[in-house]
Amino acid sequence: MAALTFLSVPRAQSPLDRAPPTRAVNAVFRVRPRTGFLVVAASRRLVAAAAAPAASAAERDKPFIEEMRAAAMRLHTRDQDRGGEKEAPMEPPVDKWEPTVEGYLRFLVDSKLVFETLEAVVHRAAVPWYAEFRNTGLERSEPLKKDLEWFRQQGHTIPEPCAPGITYASFLEELSVKDPQAFVCHFYNVHFAHTAGGRIIGKKVAEKIHIQKELEFYEWEGDLSQLQQDVRAKLNQVASGWSRAEKDRCLDEMEKAFACSIDLRRHMFP
Ligand code: HEM
Repeated sequence: MAALTFLSVPRAQSPLDRAPPTRAVNAVFRVRPRTGFLVVAASRRLVAAAAAPAASAAERDKPFIEEMRAAAMRLHTRDQDRGGEKEAPMEPPVDKWEPTVEGYLRFLVDSKLVFETLEAVVHRAAVPWYAEFRNTGLERSEPLKKDLEWFRQQGHTIPEPCAPGITYASFLEELSVKDPQAFVCHFYNVHFAHTAGGRIIGKKVAEKIHIQKELEFYEWEGDLSQLQQDVRAKLNQVASGWSRAEKDRCLDEMEKAFACSIDLRRHMFP
């Protein structure tokens, strides 16, 4: 009988090796019959619309952020969120993870690199409307820097960034120039996933590896829901200038944003 199915991200491969950043080429998900694990197919087949399911007509009448949120929620399982629809989880449930301090530190270091990259891109604003996403209050590179310094003071060695973080960061740099709408999808997911599932993950991992401290990574200055509302409003405002094709381009990137996020956590999986 098939074992528990979840998206297996092979260590030597990044989701980005498998799915180059072009609209036409998307990661293809299939079930590997022998193991039952859902894997991103290595094949780079051209597929028309294999990523997030298309928005329904009702969703299309709503502000764009609601389309983005609906596309993201469809990629969750019911185990992750009550509204989730995905049958086979894209990663093992957090309760099954076997994190170590070393693995968690790798995740924090890679996350810092990813946040630094997003923050640098919007600061540079090579695409003028990226400037709307400066200083949102959701930035996490400084809190992560403080958390890593705390771990160092506790006697832990802070690792250098490793493959998932380095690959994702350089992909984001490239995407920010070549495909702004797809870049926005990653921007949204990195920040909003962290405020939702990210906090659940942080709490459970801290319990498992016995960290007594509340990390700054999970604390925001000011009212988090107001900060989120402000960013949602900016996303809506920016996307109001996009064509339907550009909006779809953004939604099409959703599954890849999930795969990249999961890849950053793979050091904590069994
Ligand atoms: C252990 C894995 C995960 C868990 C437990 C989890 C859990 C959740 C929960 C509880 C919510 C809030 C739903 C609500 O407000 O009603 C949420 C929202 C969300 N999650 Fe996840 N999630 C996980 C993985 C991911 C991943 C991998 C991504 C993408 C990188 C992601 C992206 C999002 C987004 C974009 C939202 C919507 C946030 C918003 O607009 O308010 N999640 N998730």
